[in-house]
This record gives sequence, C-alpha cells and structure tokens, in this order.
Amino acid sequence: MAFQVLNYTIRLLKLNILLKYGTSYPKIYENQWLCSIFANKNPKCNMADKATLEFEGKKYEFPVITGSEGEKAIDIKTLRSATGGLTTIDPGYKNTGSCTSAVTFLNGEEGVLRYRGYSIEELADKADFLEVAYLLIFGELPTEAELNKFHSDIKTKSHVDEDIKKILDGFPKSAHPMGVLSSLTSALIAFNPASVNADSKEDMYNAIVNIMGKFPVLVAWALRKRTGQPLDYGDDSLGYVDNILKMMFKRPNSEYKIDPVVSNALDKLLILHADHEQNCSTSTVRMVGSSHAGLFASLSAGISALWGPLHGGANQAVLEMLEAIKEDGGDTKKYMAKAKDKNDPFRLMGFGHRVYKNFDPRAKIIKVAADDVLEKLGVEDPILEIAKGLEKEALNDPYFVDRKLYPNVDFYSGIIYRAMGIPVEMFTVMFALGRLPGWIAQWKEMRENKEPIGRPRQVYTGEKHRAFKEVSNR
Ligand code: CMC
Repeated sequence: MAFQVLNYTIRLLKLNILLKYGTSYPKIYENQWLCSIFANKNPKCNMADKATLEFEGKKYEFPVITGSEGEKAIDIKTLRSATGGLTTIDPGYKNTGSCTSAVTFLNGEEGVLRYRGYSIEELADKADFLEVAYLLIFGELPTEAELNKFHSDIKTKSHVDEDIKKILDGFPKSAHPMGVLSSLTSALIAFNPASVNADSKEDMYNAIVNIMGKFPVLVAWALRKRTGQPLDYGDDSLGYVDNILKMMFKRPNSEYKIDPVVSNALDKLLILHADHEQNCSTSTVRMVGSSHAGLFASLSAGISALWGPLHGGANQAVLEMLEAIKEDGGDTKKYMAKAKDKNDPFRLMGFGHRVYKNFDPRAKIIKVAADDVLEKLGVEDPILEIAKGLEKEALNDPYFVDRKLYPNVDFYSGIIYRAMGIPVEMFTVMFALGRLPGWIAQWKEMRENKEPIGRPRQVYTGEKHRAFKEVSNR
C-alpha cells in the first residue's frame, strides 16, 4: 500500500513538472533524483554515464551530461565542495563548457554548423537575415505575420537620438570604426537608461527590437564619419538589409539604387556571421551580462572582444596581408615560410580555427559567393588569385595539414566586402552587424536560464605571504 502511494505521488509530481517545464527545462538535470525520473525524456538527463576522478587515494564520481547531438560533458559543479577545494585549469577554455545552450550547434570535426537545428547551408541559401535573426533570438522560424511585425517594430525603434551625433563628432575622422561602434553602443545606455527586466517578455522584446533598429544606424554612421558623408537616417520603405546599404552608401546629391547582387551578397554574409556559439565575443557578452549589466553594455563589450585580429578583426588583417603579399611581388611561398617559422610572429591570417578541424562550412559558402559576386559586379581583383594560390599551397603543406589549419570565414569575406565598396576598416564592423542577433540570443538565453555570475577560478603562482617593508627599508 505504502509503495503504491509513493508510486502515485511520484507519477503526480512527474506529471506536474512535465506540464510546467516540458521535457527540456535546462536545470532539471541538476537534481539527480529528478533526473533519474526523466532519464529517457530529456537528453540532458542521461545519468547512465559517470566519470570517476581518483585523487590522493579517494574516488569521486561526477555525472556526465549528454547534449541533444550526443556530445558529452563531465558536470564538475560539485568538484570543489566534494574534494575540499580541488579546481581545474584550462587556459583559453579549450576543454571547458561554460553553459548549456540551445542556440547553435557546431561540430568542428565534421564541419557542421546549425542555428536552432537548421543547417547553415540551407539558411544561407533560402532564408533572409531578418528571418535568421528572429530564428536565433526566439528559437523558431517566424510566420509571415511574425516576421512583418518584427520588422515593423524594429523600424519604429530605429530612431537614434540626435545628441548621439555630438558624441560621434568628438571622434577624429581617423578613429577606427570598431572603437566608434563600441563607444556609441555603450552611449545608447545614457539615452535608454531603464534597465531591462529579464523576467518580462515584453521588456525583453522591446530591448531586442530597440537594438536591432538602432545598431545598423550606428554602423552606417561609423562609416559615414570616416568617409566624410552627412549622416543618413535610412528609409522605412526598404527591407532591413537594403536599408543598411542605403544608410551606408547614399550620397547626399544623388539617388541610391539598390543593386540586388550587392544586397543578396550582404544578406548572405550577415547570415553566415549571425552566431557561432561560445566564441570569444559571445562569451564576453554572456560574461558581462551575467553580472546583470544591461544588453547595450554587454554588446559594447562583445564588440571590443570581436575587434581583435585573432577573432573578427581577422577579416581586415587578411586583406592587409593579401595586399602586402601583392605589393611584395606576389611571392606566396615567402609568406608560407614566414607563417611556418616559429621565430617569426607572422601567421597566415584567415587560417586556422579553435573548433573547425576539417573545414569551416562558412568559408566554403563564402569562397563560392566571392567568385559569383566578383563576376556579377564585373570586378577583377588580383587579390582573389593570391588568396586562392595561398589556400592551394597551404592545403598541400604538411605544416598546415598536420595542424588541421583550413581557411576560415574571414579568408574570403573581405574580398566580397571590398568588391561592394566597403573600406577595409569597416570589415569587422560588418561582422559585428551580422553577429548582433547571435549576441542577443545568447544574452537572452543566459538571463532566461538565470545563469550565475561568470567568475572563473585561478591557480595562484605569485609570492607567498610576506611582511610589508617601509619605503626607507626597500
Ligand atoms: N598560421 C600559422 N600557424 C598557425 C595558424 C596560422 N593562421 N593558426 C594556428 N597555427 C599553428 C600554431 O602556431 C600552433 O602550432 P604549434 O602546435 O606548432 O605550436 C598550432 O597551429 C595550433 O594553433 P593555436 O594557436 O594553438 O590554436 P588556437 O585554437 O589557440 O587558435 C586561432 C585559433 C584562430 C586564433 C589561430 O588559428 C589563428 O591565430 N588564426 C589566424 C587568425 C584568424 O584567422 N582568426 C579568425 C578565426 S575565424 C573568425 C572567428 O570566428 O573568430
């Protein structure tokens, strides 16, 4: 009888939790007892696997969680408390997962990239950037009505306060547009001071359409400042990407006609950059947001992280490298030798990736697009030939083959940007424009999952305790 009551109670509890959270509530697996109930409903709850750690003669067991694509991770949340203070060390987080995430799946060995389950190849071919942004942020492809509403809400929020122009005026014309963009994004906080209530769907939605509307204006203004053009406010009758092009390139004394080749190419590039799971800038956005700093502040930090030449800044660095090789007579072998020389700091920019160890699926799409765009625009760029030559040599060179170094997304993207008439200093800004929905989606997920503040541990290697010496005794 007692057993029947217990059984009945467990069933009721199970039903209650199922009704409340469905089968994918991200925190359920934290409770091992609940997890055992859900073992075959929720992939994250597969508790069959355990990892055993042996340290100083004692054995400790840790659960292994399994993602929806079968990837496994040892859950070490209780490591310190169970072992009395043992920690882990993993510079660059090469083996460390900082969160569970349902946004983007990436398999570097197989060259697979999917947003919310949809392959990057299919999205680049069939979707437009705004649809992809909606998909990343809200989890599903929008219906036509949802997409129209999203676009119309973005348009109503695209006005940037006139006083932001005064801040822009303060920058010298020579300022790098990534610095300008990061500063202006941060400055938006002053003009939108109310903090976002992450528990309110409405508040979250408003913050999202607000930044989706204002960010392209800031991007376009960063370019116009550099090129000495008057600032433009865009045109609400245009599509999201066409409007960006117009804001960037419309000359004050002439009409701007959208070239569908340029518009389609930009749309595709933005989709390919839209998210890439826990990379340096996205982790920065999540980390800054984990202190409950606002969305704009978190994005501004993400822009700064993206700027570096090892991350998004690589697209500018690739073009500068290809130019330098051209100026130097086009001797690709010389630069291959430099890249392999451990005493030379030179690296083949646009090659290698932390996670892709076979090929970068984005680079494959971009290489084909580069050929197509240049041909359609009638542009002959000698740099494309140098890039292809370098790629061919690298793919047949044991140094690159052994280290699994392949062209990444940034290797060919700059060539397309240049054909579109975008100056080289703006390349990383274009990357940021594409990455915006990914950053938003990841920030939103982090807040909705109520993730704890990001605060890694360290292993201290400095001086042990020592007594202070007065300045006269030093
Ligand atoms: N040229 C020459 N050697 C390289 C390169 C390169 N581009 N990339 C890596 N290596 C070598 C590196 O020297 C090391 O050799 P060894 O084992 O003999 O010491 C080995 O390959 C492993 O490299 P790593 O630096 O330990 O790998 P990582 O995962 O820490 O770095 C990376 C990844 C992307 C920062 C690096 O490959 C790199 O600096 N590439 C050039 C910059 C670039 O194109 N960045 C854009 C990345 S894609 C856009 C994005 O999403 O950020």
